Amino acid sequence: MSDVVLQTEGLSKHFGAVKAVESLDLEVRRGEVYGFLGPNGSGKTTTISMVLGLLHPSAGQVTVLGRIVTPTKTEALAEVGSLVGVPGMVPHLSGRKNLELLAALHKDVGGERIHEILELVDLTGAADRKVKGYSLGMRQRLGLGAALLHRPELLILDEPTNGLDPAGMREIRELLRRLADQGITVFLSSHLLHEIEQVCDRVTVLAKGRAVATGRVEDLLGGSEVVRLRVRDTRKTADALATLPSIGEIRPNGHWVEVEGARSEDVIVHLVARDLVPSEVITSKADLESVFLTLTE
Ligand SMILES: Nc1ncnc2c1ncn2[C@@H]1O[C@H](COP(=O)(O)OP(=O)(O)OP(=O)(O)O)[C@@H](O)[C@H]1O
Ligand SMILES: [Mg+2]
Repeated sequence: MSDVVLQTEGLSKHFGAVKAVESLDLEVRRGEVYGFLGPNGSGKTTTISMVLGLLHPSAGQVTVLGRIVTPTKTEALAEVGSLVGVPGMVPHLSGRKNLELLAALHKDVGGERIHEILELVDLTGAADRKVKGYSLGMRQRLGLGAALLHRPELLILDEPTNGLDPAGMREIRELLRRLADQGITVFLSSHLLHEIEQVCDRVTVLAKGRAVATGRVEDLLGGSEVVRLRVRDTRKTADALATLPSIGEIRPNGHWVEVEGARSEDVIVHLVARDLVPSEVITSKADLESVFLTLTE
């Protein structure tokens, strides 16, 4: 079977004059955690709605597990689990009871699977408490559990950590990694770069409905480490650094030399080998927020 589990080609959605999504090409491969990163209003929910057959594209198409998806052609979605917004649960029933009700909508989802899901989303201890007493994080995890009941191959999540505190966000992230380890492909949107960075293998950055960057997270942010070196001879140091392969800008400034495009370990080894030992080294990741802002401006 093809390695691509979700594909969009030229996918577009216009609301009158608003181009919510414009010519979007995505390719999500089996087993990856794929980030869909964009600021408010960039078109994340609109895209996900089209992928889930909830909205007609203005142009282009969606293919899930090799089959085209439209609002009238949704067979492929039987293999998909999704969570968009806060999950709808019956508040005065327990988490377990809610899962039981939802399980009845699927074939072959019995008590054993519910037990398994409760374990997976770490709600076994709270399973018999009423959902109205759950924290937002617990509700999100229950919603994720519900989306997983029928053992989907692909999980599509629209901002699953929206509104959660840092601990709640971490629980969701850890859960997503566990799912990926079990071979489930995860597609998740977020407006938080930090979150995508921590959990995703690859990412598409969306701005005003268009993909402005796609790739491995570290590659997109790569080469952006800044190394500052306090040295005795800035001139000699700058000359020596210039011979480092793929070095970026070198900026001598007083007793310091600032350099981009190389890892600090490589810079230090290079200088030590030339007897130009720096007395102080400061490295800073290029400010992630500013990289993101530059991409989405
Ligand atoms: N039903 C609609 N009618 C008109 N405009 C819409 C509709 N749905 C979305 N839009 C517009 O399309 C654009 C993309 O919206 P969308 O909700 O997809 O963004 P988003 O990335 O999910 O944002 P957020 O982070 O706020 O959830 C916005 O300009 C929005 O106002
Ligand atoms: Mg949205």
